[in-house]
Amino acid sequence: MLQDSAELDQELVRALFDIRGELHQAAGGSDYAGDLHADLRAARESGPVHAAPVGEVLGHSYRTGVLAEHSAPIYSAFDFATVNTVLRDPDVYSSAVYDSVSEMFGKNILQMGGSEHTRYRGLVQHSFARSMVPWWADNWIEHIVEVLLRRIEGQGRADLNLDLCALLPLLTITSSFGIEWHQALQLRTYVETMLGAGRPKSERLAASAAIADMLRPVVVERRRSPQDDLITVLTRETIVDENGDRHLLGDDEILGFARLVLTAGSGTTWRQLAIVLWALLGHPDQLDAVQRDRSLVRPAIEEALRWEVTDPTFHRLVTRDTVLGGVPIPAGAVIEICLAAANLDPARWADPERFDITRPIRPHLAFATGPHVCLGMHVARAEMAIALNAVLDRFPRLRWDPQAPRPALLGLTMRGPAEVPVVFS
Ligand code: HEM
Repeated sequence: MLQDSAELDQELVRALFDIRGELHQAAGGSDYAGDLHADLRAARESGPVHAAPVGEVLGHSYRTGVLAEHSAPIYSAFDFATVNTVLRDPDVYSSAVYDSVSEMFGKNILQMGGSEHTRYRGLVQHSFARSMVPWWADNWIEHIVEVLLRRIEGQGRADLNLDLCALLPLLTITSSFGIEWHQALQLRTYVETMLGAGRPKSERLAASAAIADMLRPVVVERRRSPQDDLITVLTRETIVDENGDRHLLGDDEILGFARLVLTAGSGTTWRQLAIVLWALLGHPDQLDAVQRDRSLVRPAIEEALRWEVTDPTFHRLVTRDTVLGGVPIPAGAVIEICLAAANLDPARWADPERFDITRPIRPHLAFATGPHVCLGMHVARAEMAIALNAVLDRFPRLRWDPQAPRPALLGLTMRGPAEVPVVFS
C-alpha cells in the first residue's frame, strides 16, 4: 500500500521525537551532555567492573527503569571482554532482569530465557534474517525513504533528524504491521505513554491496551485474509509448548511481540541513523569518500554503531555468586553492561575514539551478542543504508547548515542529536 507524507502531522512528529522531551527525561540520563568518550575511558581505566551503576561511575546519578525496579546491589562492566562474557552466558547473567517489561508488553522474547526463548525467537527469526532484507526494502523501506526525501528536496535545507531519521523506522515497522501512516503517530504516542517511567501505572497499562485495540483488528483481518506482511506471518506461526503440543500463536502472544518490536525497532534506529549522519557531517572528508565510493556506506554505518551507539547500556540479573573482572558479585545483583564502553576498548580497536570508516571491521557490541542479539539488526542496517544512499544520491552537496548551531550528542541511556540541520543546494 503506497501512502503519502501528507498524512503526517509535523507538530506531532516534533513532539514525539524530541530527545530533550518527556520520554527521554523519564528514562534518566537524558540531560547528560558530557564528554562520553573521556568519561568511559576513565571508568574503564579504573577497572573493568565497578560496584555502582554506569551513571554513578560517570558522576551522573539517576535510577530509573530497570535500576529503579531492583533494590539489589548494582554493578557495571566497561571493557569488551567482560561485557562479551556477560552477554554470552545467559545462565549466570539472566534477561529475567526485564521481567517487569512483560507487564506492559505482554509475553515477549526480551525477558525470556533458555528453551522458551529459543522456541519463541525461532518463530520470528526468519522474517528478520539477512536474506529477508529485500522483502523489507521492496515492500516498505525504499518507498518510505523516497516519500520522506521528496517532501524536503525543494526546500534546500532540512532537519534530517525529524524529516527522515525519526519517521523512517516508525513507518517501516507500522507499515509491516499493516497500519496506515496517519495511525502510526498515534501508535507511537501510545508506545511513549506505555514506556513513560514517570507516569502512573494505570496510564501506562491503558496505553498498552490501546496498542492492542489498534492492532487486534489487523490480526483478526489477517487471519481471515492473509497479506504479504509481518502480522500475517505471525498469524501462521505455530509454537510447540512445554508439553510438546503444537498450537498457533494466540492474539496475546502476537500482541506481546508487536509491542516489543514497535518499541525496540523505532526509537533505536531513529537515533542511530541520526548518529550516522552526524558522524559523517562532522567528518566531511569521510562524507566525501562515501559519496564517491558507495561500498563505504556499510563500513560507515558499522563504524558509527561502534563509535557512538544509541543505547549505551543494557542489564542482566546475576543468578549465582560469581566473580566478574576480578570483582565478586552476589546472586541477585544487577549488572549494567556498557556496550558503548566495550565498543571503545583499546584492547580491541586501535585509537578507538577516532571515527574512521576505513578501519578493519571487527564485530562490535552495538547490537549486543549471544542469544538476545538484536533481532532487527539486519532491518536496522538496511534502513540506514538505504536512507544514507538515497540522501547522497539526492543531495550531493550535503553539509551542515551554517546558520544552525552544531548539534551535540545528548543522553546516556538513549543517545542521539536533537537536530541534524543540513543544507543541500
Ligand atoms: C540501530 C538500531 C538498533 C539497535 C542499536 C538495537 C540494539 C539492540 C540490543 C543491544 C539488543 C539486546 C538487548 C539485550 O540483550 O538486553 C536488542 C534486542 C532486540 N532488538 Fe534491537 N536494536 C536496533 C534496532 C532494532 C530493530 C529495527 C528491531 C525490529 C525491527 C529490533 C528488535 C529487537 C528485538 C525484538 C530484540 C530482543 C531480542 C531478544 O531478546 O531475543 N531492534 N536490540
